[in-house]
Amino acid sequence: MSTSAEIRRLTTPQDLFQAAADDVIHAATDAVKERGRFTIALSGGSTPLSLYTLIAANASTGLPWDQMFFFWSDERHVPPDDPDSNFRLANESLLSKVPVPAANIFRVPAENPDAAAAAQAYEQTLRNFFSLKPDEFPRFDLILLGMGPDGHTASLFPETAALQEKSRLVVANWVEKLKAFRITFTLPLINAARRVVFLVSGMDKAPALHEVLEGNAPPRKYPSKLVQPADGKLIWLLDRAAASQLATG
Ligand code: 6PG
Repeated sequence: MSTSAEIRRLTTPQDLFQAAADDVIHAATDAVKERGRFTIALSGGSTPLSLYTLIAANASTGLPWDQMFFFWSDERHVPPDDPDSNFRLANESLLSKVPVPAANIFRVPAENPDAAAAAQAYEQTLRNFFSLKPDEFPRFDLILLGMGPDGHTASLFPETAALQEKSRLVVANWVEKLKAFRITFTLPLINAARRVVFLVSGMDKAPALHEVLEGNAPPRKYPSKLVQPADGKLIWLLDRAAASQLATG
């Protein structure tokens, strides 16, 4: 049974990033206290840059960095030093600025010219790290997600093949409008998480957000609708601009 979403409307983008940073810090502290480690999948795109910068600036918050393990919910099919790389963005703004051991950082090997092989390798990395049985999905403590103006999340774009994936953890997804492969967590993996937090900022996201949270368009057209953790918390952190087309209340 999927749990209902918690929708938190913040005012400014800075309020949004502060709320997100607080959420990450609380989730990390709780996970380490309860289970001895914190597993997080970072989102890509530009929105989380301010969040990563904020967490890095507060690195002295005494976070248990050596018990925190970093993954990515998706990656562009580019090398790690490419300007489009989600790893590069997080590494430059956060991971290179905090005392997290390099061994705790698991980037997608997206430099592999064969995107399917990169996805397979990343899936094996997850299987090994979480010591998974063949049909088991890992339960991330926290998966951070963004949402595009078309309602995509991770690299689960509207009407793309990855939306149908039911058994794999990570796949290479051809995105026709980008004329490129992306490597992405699948929906069953995302929906196995303990906590999924969407971070959505800006007026350009408002129409899709209304569709995702209040509309009745087919989910294949707005894939963020398909994020429904089976036994976990779903939180939407929105700023006023992104939430501007939601029904009030
Ligand atoms: C990516 C992301 C993608 C992103 C949204 C929002 O690799 O681009 O994972 O899902 O979160 O496209 O992107 P912005 O934050 O740049 O608006």
